[in-house]
Amino acid sequence: MARGGQTVDVPKAKLTRESLREGLTIFRYLRPYRTRFLLGLLFISLSAGSTMAFPYLLGEMINSATGNPSASTLHFSPGLIAVIMIALLTLQMLFSFMRVYLFTSVGENAVADMRKDIYRHLIMMPMDFFAQRRVGELSSRISADITQIQDAVSVMLAELLRGVLTMVIGVGMILYLSVKLTLVMLSVIPIVIIIALIFSRTIRKYSRMAQDQLADSGTIVQETLQGISNVKAFNNEWYEIGRYTKSVTDVVRLAVRNGRVRGMFISFMIFSVFGAIVLVVWYAMTMNMEVGNLMKFVIFTAFVGGTMAGFADIYSQLQKTIGATQRVREILKESTETVTVADEMLQPEYRLQGKVQLRDVSFYYPSRPEVQVLKHLNIEAAPGQQIAVVGPSGAGKSTLVSLLLRFYDPQSGSILFDGRAADEFPLSQLRRQMALVPQDVLLFGGSIFENIAYGKPDATREEVEEAARKANAHEFIQRFPEGYETVVGERGVKLSGGQRQRIAIARAILKDPAILILDEATSSLDSESEALVQEALFNLMKNRTSFVIAHRLSTIRNADQILVLEHGAIREKGTHFELLELENGLYKSLSKLQFEV
Ligand SMILES: Nc1ncnc2c1ncn2[C@@H]1O[C@H](COP(=O)(O)OP(=O)(O)OP(=O)(O)O)[C@@H](O)[C@H]1O
Ligand SMILES: [Mg+2]
Repeated sequence: MARGGQTVDVPKAKLTRESLREGLTIFRYLRPYRTRFLLGLLFISLSAGSTMAFPYLLGEMINSATGNPSASTLHFSPGLIAVIMIALLTLQMLFSFMRVYLFTSVGENAVADMRKDIYRHLIMMPMDFFAQRRVGELSSRISADITQIQDAVSVMLAELLRGVLTMVIGVGMILYLSVKLTLVMLSVIPIVIIIALIFSRTIRKYSRMAQDQLADSGTIVQETLQGISNVKAFNNEWYEIGRYTKSVTDVVRLAVRNGRVRGMFISFMIFSVFGAIVLVVWYAMTMNMEVGNLMKFVIFTAFVGGTMAGFADIYSQLQKTIGATQRVREILKESTETVTVADEMLQPEYRLQGKVQLRDVSFYYPSRPEVQVLKHLNIEAAPGQQIAVVGPSGAGKSTLVSLLLRFYDPQSGSILFDGRAADEFPLSQLRRQMALVPQDVLLFGGSIFENIAYGKPDATREEVEEAARKANAHEFIQRFPEGYETVVGERGVKLSGGQRQRIAIARAILKDPAILILDEATSSLDSESEALVQEALFNLMKNRTSFVIAHRLSTIRNADQILVLEHGAIREKGTHFELLELENGLYKSLSKLQFEV
């Protein structure tokens, strides 16, 4: 995360015509704000121009005061020149203010648009996209990339324009003042700049290494504090202290090495800047140059030198920005799932009867093609039937659920709803008629009310309470001082596993789906609440097709069909009593084990 001063370093891209053109497409985000943007550019030019007039007027004032009219071009009294300069400075205040204000406003707005675009795109991406990437990395990457682009829009462009103007005016002025002296100067500056660049590259490399190392030790702190109960339970305090100490020592080593190079750099720069001034002043004296003009010359040269050094930085910024825009555009180019928007949801739609068929379905996760997770599954669920899926851990039960919800599509075979191929239905319509109570329930930051209403955002208070009652959750919710308004999630009250599950069940009840999917929905409940919730679930399952994944076989005894899944294939299929009849059956041995306990 690019928080707390720790910035994620943005990798650079090669500058080619292609990459440049690609990078520039990001400027379409500026289009809505182009008037402000162009005004900003105008103010930058004005501000650069007035800055450059300053040394000129200063020199003129000195020329005029030292009574050297032949050198002066303006022939004004020093007082008048001072007044002009103050007036110019006042204008400069306005220009600078406008430039900063306009560019900030354009940059922030354009980047906000970009953020919204990317988020909308991300959240609609198919599941597979998330499986292939680490989500944390993705989000920090995006925030770093966007910050880079924002800097480019609000700072880099402005600096570039100002730099070009300063170079043109500055070099023009010193050439005009003295061609010879300019040549002396221009023969020194590039050498200094090249050496400075070499130094700064080394410095950057070291400081990046130190920063990475610092981030590493930050990770140690974060991980161990998050898992503090593990650290303590395993008595590993000293082990972690050792790890942290080593990491911090490395940071110091790298930072000190960097300090050495920086020290050399700074002393070299001071030497060369003042050395160049000595050289120029001495040379100017041998030429009998006027003090005022010499003054102009020195200040203009300083501007030119500073700008040249700045260009190197702008160049590397440009590379980074192109890299950032490429990655952002990669995301924007990926195709999303089609999720219909809220308006269309209001239209009357086809209500599923609830017939579900799987025909010879085989599936592997696109991220792991070598592992065949589901093999030639054939399942037939009549409307309203209860299908139980049991089997050892890793057999593919949750994967089957993902296919039903169309998080993934099978590589071969087909899934049919009401006899029609799954992809004939709009994705949103299909998912709207299913409800999932997952294995690990995630509650969103917000009130309990909002979390239950997640299944039906326009639900009334009565409906939510009704659903909670049916899920046997009302009672514990009532016991919180703030009841349904209790905030849960990362920053709120922590709920127990069983409480979370009951909230998820209430969510599903409220949604009133045609197809209900329970993935170990009662696994975190004690026997008493399980019995209560079981009853609720039993009511919930009436009149809808349901898929129930369960480890505890007692909960699925009445299922219309029980599928025993092993290594991704259906090994046994039938009712409870049919399966118990099977000699050497997996179900039979499993239930023996469970009922003996
Ligand atoms: N997103 C994924 N990408 C790649 N492989 C996965 C993914 N999710 C699960 N798998 C693999 O697929 C197989 C089946 O996993 P699945 O979660 O369906 O098992 P399960 O039957 O639900 O097990 P459990 O009872 O422990 O929940 C496992 O080998 C697992 O490693
Ligand atoms: Mg599972």
